Amino acid sequence: MPSNHPIRISPSILSADFVNLERDLGRISTADLVHVDVMDGHFVPNLTLGLPIVERIQQVSPLPLDVHLMIDDPLRWAPKYAETGAFSVTFSIEAAPDPRAVAKAIKNAGSRAAVAIKPGTPIEPVLDLLDDIDMILVMTVEPGFGGQSFMGETMPKLRAAREAIDASGREIWLEVDGGITAETIVTAVENGADTIVAGSSVYGPAGTPEPVDRIAALRASASQVA
Ligand code: DX5
Ligand code: ZN
Repeated sequence: MPSNHPIRISPSILSADFVNLERDLGRISTADLVHVDVMDGHFVPNLTLGLPIVERIQQVSPLPLDVHLMIDDPLRWAPKYAETGAFSVTFSIEAAPDPRAVAKAIKNAGSRAAVAIKPGTPIEPVLDLLDDIDMILVMTVEPGFGGQSFMGETMPKLRAAREAIDASGREIWLEVDGGITAETIVTAVENGADTIVAGSSVYGPAGTPEPVDRIAALRASASQVA
């Protein structure tokens, strides 16, 4: 499918150096957003960072925050992340009995509202929310850890989301997260993604290319999709 959408790159600081976060935020100046993974050790079997740290990141980040909540009880917590000034707050549909209420609460608190969907969850419940959300995040790995392999079997859902968004005529972004490299970004963009999270492929090990060079490589790959 031709891509008629601008491509946004959102590096995940899960792969940055948590002791040098401000420095590592400064190393992705050519990105569009910064992706902040909040995990609670309940919704996913991993624990990262919470509200006080997101507040500080918001204060020092040169880029808008793309906060990705992998937590239980998003109705309680998501508006608090929006109140930090985050550009966008994403919650997981599997954790939200009333996703419409969570989206409204995020927007009332001043952020764009987005819904994430795990690889095994059908897309249809998300497509019922198009009037209430600003972005869909199709997870391309099981949420919880960086550095996993891209799951190509999620692409039919991504394409279905793209078709529904285009049919709606609404300005809804379509994000992918997990296992994105200079190779897999081509598949994701071909299937309709316009907003790309990349952690380990942006923040590689020390001594390997700088994040800005890796971001440029991702953009170059995405632009091959004509
Ligand atoms: C995984 C997180 C991702 C993670 C992606 O649950 O939501 O944002 O940082 O890492 P990579 O790009 O290494 O797969
Ligand atoms: Zn994420």
